[in-house]
Amino acid sequence: MKRIGVFTSGGDSPGMNACIRAVVRSAVYHGLEVYGIHRGYKGMIKGEIYRMDSHSVSNIIQKGGTILRSARSKEFMTPEGRQKAYEQLQQHGIEGLIAIGGDGTFTGANIFFEEYGIPTVGAPGTIDNDLYGTDYTIGYDTAVNTALDAIDKIRDTADSHDRVFFIEVMGRDSGYIAIPCAIGGGAEIVMIPETETSIEYVVDTLRTGWNRSKTSFIVIIAEGDEAGNASQVAAQVQHELPYMDARVTILGHVQRGGSPTAADRMLASQLGIACVDGLLAGRKCEMAGIISGELTYTPFIETITKDKLINPQYVKMVDILSV
Ligand code: F6P
Repeated sequence: MKRIGVFTSGGDSPGMNACIRAVVRSAVYHGLEVYGIHRGYKGMIKGEIYRMDSHSVSNIIQKGGTILRSARSKEFMTPEGRQKAYEQLQQHGIEGLIAIGGDGTFTGANIFFEEYGIPTVGAPGTIDNDLYGTDYTIGYDTAVNTALDAIDKIRDTADSHDRVFFIEVMGRDSGYIAIPCAIGGGAEIVMIPETETSIEYVVDTLRTGWNRSKTSFIVIIAEGDEAGNASQVAAQVQHELPYMDARVTILGHVQRGGSPTAADRMLASQLGIACVDGLLAGRKCEMAGIISGELTYTPFIETITKDKLINPQYVKMVDILSV
């Protein structure tokens, strides 16, 4: 293999740049030519493909976002779109790909390999940490710390005004961000998609706390929770407890930006190198990850189809720690 392409796809995450840097520098180290594909599969289809060298990735390790830009491509989900992408790669002589993204990214890479035989090795880049095959995804640690910083600030004002705050954090299908935010932020309640938390439980817990002279409360809600979003949960609770003063904060995309933490820079650098090593070793359709300190490669099909379960004990911990 002489020439490879690297791209970021799906929701961006802090540390993607550190990973791009590691891929490019490692490729140069091994004497490979490396091309940056802009805007994920969308840019691959359009031919937004540019030569990179060691200097292209100078001074980016500390930056949030992705210098390669990112996108979610509907066209790549069609056979016609994938054919255009293949033609572009052929024109540029690209023989292997490194994809930094989440399950949508790896689903696309898997189909692409089946149809056109282009091998892809992936690095898990998503703040959600919901990918099977790695303990942590690139950007997760930063996102949690960003959210926690905001929650600490909300706690100050919640306490000053004797209020209950319903704070929504990201995680479309998972509570991985919500759990450390709730435990680390000293929340009374956490609501995540993996476990069912009824509105009755929320109301009872807040009422019990209120009757014990607690005056301010934090409820952390993962955006994908089955009970609804933070506004819906707050409205139902406020209806039952009209004497409480409720407010809603949706942390949203603030969690996706910012300078990556040391842990994310380390992880991204390690996995970027592992992706290049993986391609050179003949791996295809596998994601590099770290499990219990060990570098591992997991087939895309497993990262896509298997669930990374959250220990339900964490939800109990929130309960215990807020008595
Ligand atoms: O997958 C990462 C993520 O930030 C999710 O937590 C969230 O549900 C989603 O992306 C938001 O996507 P978009 O930026 O397209 O609105």
